Amino acid sequence: MNNTPTPPTTRRDFIKTSGRIAAVSALAGVTIPHVFAAENNTLQVALIGCGGRGGGAADNALSVKTGPMKLVAMADVFPDKLKNAYNGLAARHKEKVDVPQERRFIGFDGYKNAMDCLKPGDIAIFTTPLAFRWVHFKYAIEKKLNVFMEKPVTADGPTSRRMLKLSDEASAKSLKVGVGLMSRHARHLQDLHKRVQDGEIGDVMLMRGYRMHGPVASAFSKRWPGNPSELLWQISRFHSFLWASGGCFSDFYIHHIDHCCWMKNAWPVKAQALGGRHFRVSPEGDPWVDQNFDSYAVEYTFEDGAKFYMDGRCNSGAQSFYFSHVHGTKGIAVAAKSNDFSGPSSIHKGQLPTRESMLWQSKPDAEPNLNAYNYEWDDLTNAIRNDKPYNEVPFGVQASVVTSMGRKAAHTGMEIRYEDMLNDDMEYAPDIDKWTMDSPPPIIGDANGKYPVPMPGKTTKHEYEMNIRA
Ligand SMILES: NC(=O)c1ccc[n+]([C@@H]2O[C@H](COP(=O)([O-])OP(=O)(O)OC[C@H]3O[C@@H](n4cnc5c(N)ncnc54)[C@H](O)[C@@H]3O)[C@@H](O)[C@H]2O)c1
Repeated sequence: MNNTPTPPTTRRDFIKTSGRIAAVSALAGVTIPHVFAAENNTLQVALIGCGGRGGGAADNALSVKTGPMKLVAMADVFPDKLKNAYNGLAARHKEKVDVPQERRFIGFDGYKNAMDCLKPGDIAIFTTPLAFRWVHFKYAIEKKLNVFMEKPVTADGPTSRRMLKLSDEASAKSLKVGVGLMSRHARHLQDLHKRVQDGEIGDVMLMRGYRMHGPVASAFSKRWPGNPSELLWQISRFHSFLWASGGCFSDFYIHHIDHCCWMKNAWPVKAQALGGRHFRVSPEGDPWVDQNFDSYAVEYTFEDGAKFYMDGRCNSGAQSFYFSHVHGTKGIAVAAKSNDFSGPSSIHKGQLPTRESMLWQSKPDAEPNLNAYNYEWDDLTNAIRNDKPYNEVPFGVQASVVTSMGRKAAHTGMEIRYEDMLNDDMEYAPDIDKWTMDSPPPIIGDANGKYPVPMPGKTTKHEYEMNIRA
């Protein structure tokens, strides 16, 4: 993977540079004092956001093969989430978990307390919903901490621009930052990427990503039950709310969007899309109140005219499709054979991915229990221990912006260009850095508990009628 010496500043630069990189330092090649890890070579870790992925990411961190690791602090807004994650991690990594009661923090400022337990050069893990990314990243940079943050990293224009600026500051301090777009660390997809760049399928003309399955996670919500607070409830059901996560579109589809664009080594310049919601009532007859569509079909266009179609569906009973394909002038590649990134990947002659047409297939991982979630941690900690330039935020933001532009195209019924999305002024969770447990949520339900939904062709400037409380 190449490193790129200067950060892309214009969309054209983004497109030219972004696909080539798995790790970019804004200041690669410039000598910067090394930020040292703890003297005994142990990298200490703080986990902020102790849900499903937080527990998984901390487990991955404590499983790396690059050197000693220790979990020393945890933060969440729900005590039970923190407790469950602690119990699971302590059971699995007894010697590597040292989080006494006084280093477990609850509340919106818990991230500061948790990061205050670290030394410069240690690692903060951000696995809350994306709305808090920039707030936590800003503090980590102040504390000279390396970071692993989950995808997506933004859902709107202002925070995307903010994250790019913060990314430059992180690189200027030689901090290492990983973003949870794990496809780029899957060895079979890295192998495929190299082959596609070497021209094995010819020029890339078309890509197709499908993530179509039944309802999962918190994509659909029934009315707020009145407890916990409306804000905490929205946070606990973040896939339902565009401010918190970019909705199911951003949360679920970013993996295919990212790795398909990576195969093409470019980001699309524009998107137009279809989407809708067939079912507004649960099987039990309760109204759904969330902001998602249940079906999306996005047509992305690249500068050279090539297309990428991303289809998403969360609908029980319909047939499941969950894979990605890359079509070139000479052949077709199977990127994710199933799920977000699972292999084997393969290359085929012609446009049909059959056994008979197969020219190459990726080998299984040398160590079967390692997967991309482990590799992304091996890669990050290897960069930290060897002080190699490593900052995945630029492409993390670019993938997030491209995802948001597809989502916004579907939600508004308008064609959205990359720079329109990046330069959009609407911030979905303003002043989130000042929130307390008593803050109101950025959107409120109507008399029936329903939140504003996208109405393509009717609400065209923004994705929904904002009712942000002053
Ligand atoms: N890369 C992947 O394959 C993958 C898989 C799953 C989730 N994710 C990402 O990880 C993130 C978390 O997803 P999840 O499934 O673990 O959700 P989750 O709800 O299980 O966990 C999120 C946790 O963050 C906590 N939290 C929310 N706001 C907080 C704040 N301000 N401060 C501290 N804690 C806070 C919540 O209480 C919860 O415990 C999302 O961005 C999601 O997209 C990535």
